[in-house]
Amino acid sequence: MRLISILSALVASVSLVSGSVAHAGEQGADLVLVAGATGRTGRHVVTELLAQGHTVRVLSRSEASAREAFGDTVQVVEGDVRDPDSLVPAVAGVRYIVSAVGSSGRADPENSPEAVDYHGVRNMVEAAKAAGTVEHFVLVSSMGITQPTHPLNRFANNILLWKGLGENALRFSGLDYTIVRPGGLVDEPGGKAGIRAGQGDTMEQGYIPRADVARVCVAALGNPAANRVTLEVIGDPDRDTVDWEAFFAALEADSQEGISF
Ligand SMILES: NC(=O)c1ccc[n+]([C@@H]2O[C@H](COP(=O)([O-])OP(=O)(O)OC[C@H]3O[C@@H](n4cnc5c(N)ncnc54)[C@H](OP(=O)(O)O)[C@@H]3O)[C@@H](O)[C@H]2O)c1
Repeated sequence: MRLISILSALVASVSLVSGSVAHAGEQGADLVLVAGATGRTGRHVVTELLAQGHTVRVLSRSEASAREAFGDTVQVVEGDVRDPDSLVPAVAGVRYIVSAVGSSGRADPENSPEAVDYHGVRNMVEAAKAAGTVEHFVLVSSMGITQPTHPLNRFANNILLWKGLGENALRFSGLDYTIVRPGGLVDEPGGKAGIRAGQGDTMEQGYIPRADVARVCVAALGNPAANRVTLEVIGDPDRDTVDWEAFFAALEADSQEGISF
């Protein structure tokens, strides 16, 4: 049965490879590739990176859309995560990658969770490995990945299961990585509340502004405390700021045996 074979692949245990990373901004050449930059979370990632002085390259299926969104503040490479050849120029010379790519769910069968959230992420990971310059890859995934009966799997072509396989492609790639699994995304301003982190996909469902997910992604880049870490994130109305050092220090790296799904 298909679901069972997907689940079996999810629990496959592969050795993790560790490595050192440098904080973004500490060294000169820090070109950051943002995939899914024209999306609602990706736009915030680009804004945050530019505000912090990074050089940003965006991967977009439409150069015109990317130019409309960002003008000439970023480099643009037209490409599609389903097309590995198109990713080669996108990753060339890149130091960090943030992916906020997401499939079209049921809306476009050609751009399905299987094609984008699994194969597309795996294509990006392979391209990043081949580039040889990528020091840290941050992937926006989702809460609920470990729950096969989650309604999203029923309603959106097993999206969480495919995202789980995409996570594994990164987790076991040998690249330094952080996997950020948000709760429900909302388009409210970021930086207005705290951010609660969880691990093990046991957190209660909650919501988080896309802008705050972007802040987590950018804060993770090149941060040794965020390396080989998988975390869930939701908004924390009990706080109004985030102490990033404490936030990441409280997290545990993924085990050598792999993640339990
Ligand atoms: N919605 C939620 O509540 C929720 C909750 C948890 C996690 N998430 C996940 O969080 C991430 C960000 O969500 P979002 O709502 O901000 O996303 P979004 O607005 O739907 O944006 C998705 C981005 O992915 C790009 N994309 C789609 N297919 C592509 C392809 N084949 N090749 C290259 N780029 C492609 C889109 O580019 P185009 O402009 O070319 O279409 C767009 O930039 C997604 O992975 C989503 O599944 C969502």
